[in-house]
Amino acid sequence: MNAIEIVNLTKTFGAKRAVDGLNMTVPQGAIYGFIGENGSGKSTTEKLICGLLQPSGGEIKLFGKSHRDQQVRSQTGVLIESPGCFSDYSVWNNLKLQAANLGIKNENEEIRRVLHLVRMDGAASNKFKNCSLGMKQRIGIAFALLGNPKLLVLDEPINGLDADGMRIMREILTDLADSGCTVLISSHILGELEKIATHYGIIRNGQMLKQMTAAQLNADCPTYVALKTADTDKTRAILQQTYGRADVDEQTGEIRVYNGSSADKVANYLFADCGIAVTEIRTAKISLEEYYINLMREGK
Ligand SMILES: Nc1ncnc2c1ncn2[C@@H]1O[C@H](COP(=O)(O)OP(=O)(O)O)[C@@H](O)[C@H]1O
Ligand SMILES: [Mg+2]
Repeated sequence: MNAIEIVNLTKTFGAKRAVDGLNMTVPQGAIYGFIGENGSGKSTTEKLICGLLQPSGGEIKLFGKSHRDQQVRSQTGVLIESPGCFSDYSVWNNLKLQAANLGIKNENEEIRRVLHLVRMDGAASNKFKNCSLGMKQRIGIAFALLGNPKLLVLDEPINGLDADGMRIMREILTDLADSGCTVLISSHILGELEKIATHYGIIRNGQMLKQMTAAQLNADCPTYVALKTADTDKTRAILQQTYGRADVDEQTGEIRVYNGSSADKVANYLFADCGIAVTEIRTAKISLEEYYINLMREGK
């Protein structure tokens, strides 16, 4: 069963189609990276999933049931924008208030559980206003985790975090997924997303452009040898002929060879057979960021 199954979802605001016939499948236990340019409809889709907005058309199923189903709704945790916290209250009291709103039983135990999950066991008595941005984001996740949801929907939760904040967030989300919780996370910080996502959905103009697993992305992102020589044009022409494909990276000026040869082999070939000295050489892999940029470029 899928955690989220969306068919032909539409949401209009006046004449604007924010979500326009979107299809989306999020398997249970996935960390689903939801990617798209600003204004492509990510937040709107997430709000529709969580029942914060009403669809104009289409269907949303969560764990096989309508997303309007009360039981399913209670199993969905959400962090869209910042958590509604009182700045003069302690972290603990903010969570206590939220737990009461949700009618959660054994609230002290539950608050301890979620604070532990977000690595904030020692910070319960801190006033919310004195927490760092990273802590505030984690408190938002703690809010969303009250009641032990099976699905967590997070809208840009790592924006503005420093490296350490990102690492902690990564650990938290991976732990949650390991425990069986499905995580839908939108972010434009693709380098971070790539470290944790098991699935991806790329949205454009309110439509799903592409969905894939991390393994499929990996297969679509070949490794390559990147090198520089004194004569880029000549070298590229030679490599193109020998290896079938050789591109020049406009930004770095590197020539790239994709056929799977090792850096040593390519360098040796150029020097021994063609008399061309290689000045720099490395092996690299296409990143999610580059894949995404290429995909966006193709569509324009
Ligand atoms: N409440 C709203 N009223 C009118 N237009 C909206 C509203 N919410 C979103 N939009 C529009 O819908 C489109 C998608 O927005 P959004 O879902 O926030 O995109 P994203 O999260 O991918 O940046 C944008 O053009 C945005 O301006
Ligand atoms: Mg958004």
